[in-house]
Amino acid sequence: MSTSQQTAAANTPAEGMPALAEAEASFRALYPAFASTSQLDEMRASDYARLDAAGHIYLDYTGGGLYAESQVRAHMDLLRDNVFGNPHSTNPTSLAMTRLIEQARDAVLAFFSATPDEYAVIFTLNASGALKLVGESYPFGPDDQYLLTFDNHNSVNGIREFARARGAHVTYAPVIPPDMRIDGERLAASLDLARPGGNNLFAFPAQSNFSGVQHPLEWIERAQAKGWDVLLDAAAFVPTNPLDLSRWHPDFVSLSFYKIFGYPTGVGCLLARKPALAKLHRPWFAGGTITVASVQGDRYYLHEGGEAFEDGTLNYLTLPAVEIGLRHIASIGLDTIHTRVACLTGWLLDALTALRHSTGAPVVRIYGPENTAMRGGTITMNFYDPDGHFIDHRLIEERANEVNISLRTGCFCNPGGGELALGISAEELSTCFVRYTERVTLDDFRRCIDAKSTGAVRVSVGLASTFADVYAFATFARGFVDKRANEM
Ligand SMILES: Cc1ncc(COP(=O)(O)O)c(C=O)c1O
Repeated sequence: MSTSQQTAAANTPAEGMPALAEAEASFRALYPAFASTSQLDEMRASDYARLDAAGHIYLDYTGGGLYAESQVRAHMDLLRDNVFGNPHSTNPTSLAMTRLIEQARDAVLAFFSATPDEYAVIFTLNASGALKLVGESYPFGPDDQYLLTFDNHNSVNGIREFARARGAHVTYAPVIPPDMRIDGERLAASLDLARPGGNNLFAFPAQSNFSGVQHPLEWIERAQAKGWDVLLDAAAFVPTNPLDLSRWHPDFVSLSFYKIFGYPTGVGCLLARKPALAKLHRPWFAGGTITVASVQGDRYYLHEGGEAFEDGTLNYLTLPAVEIGLRHIASIGLDTIHTRVACLTGWLLDALTALRHSTGAPVVRIYGPENTAMRGGTITMNFYDPDGHFIDHRLIEERANEVNISLRTGCFCNPGGGELALGISAEELSTCFVRYTERVTLDDFRRCIDAKSTGAVRVSVGLASTFADVYAFATFARGFVDKRANEM
């Protein structure tokens, strides 16, 4: 199919569905706040015109945000009109670069309402890079604690390996399906595990990249009051929600900029509260992180604060693009983006949960809240046939690809969320881990848990999403009504 045929197919109403214009009119009546976001419809037609020109229905904003053409132009203009050198020098081209890097740092602090007295901005490769810095440098010792919720990204889960290697205990706090919210009682009890006077680290996502759930930020203060340092993984939250660090004071915040404004990739940051940063011990030193290092003296002195955490030469030419991206988001306003995403998510949740086979059985089961309270624009689901058999998520992806819908399938690097949502028990997993003692392919592991779906389908909306995008997905989903899994 050509791309125009694909787009036409995605926007042709499935049986029983009103046409796009009619559906949009009733959506707008139901969600009047959407009208206040009309500047984003205009931007979609200009700054994001490539989506419609190529017939794309992009529904993977949790995977990666999209950049506006004007961001790229502004960055290219800057590079074309200036000469920038490696910022580790004091020559004119180097100083020009240093100025822009410091400007980018200030822009990050301002974007999150953080003060330079309280927080340091450490540029990293991505959110995972920020998380690894915390994991490898946090002073875990015997009987210290690493506590984390079940629905973390693997880059937060991975910190447990640093913790265990140094004798700390690792505890997972469950979230409860189907809404996938924190089990408050269990978490409160786990917070009592903090070792008095010890090093206790608690990590949770401000928004789950599996279920879209937003966990209450009040847990930050509650945990700190009980002796925990708090690592807030904000990667999935900050693209569509304001994070006000003058109101909330997590010790560490991890994020990737491409998730907020699409370009540049390869830059994230760790925002670290200065007293918490002072607790971290880097396991090595590198160019750029030291004031003095000696070969014969066999000693080194790390820089104060954030500089000790930026190894080697920063990806310096891209950093001005961070400031450009932040300015772009600020010019739209995060509240506007949030409102738009909430309206589109609400409509899509209603459309999906209302879908029924002629037997009355649901077509789609959602893992996460079915309304917009304390949730973001990430909707994760599986498709079921009239007999209640799941339809493999890989088949859903194949069909979506045919109509140029970009979505995500699998467990999205969030195995704990997936295991709880899909009802895969610790015993089942242990059996498979015993069977495969060495490396295993994902397909072989899947076959080991063959009676259940081992993954799901995720769609997510963002700043350039339109009603037509979510309508296309609802139309696509309706195409599975009365379809049997074994016939597909
Ligand atoms: C909640 C969350 N944390 C961390 C990450 C890791 O981000 P990156 O791959 O950019 O390091 C992701 C990526 O999807 C995420 O959604």
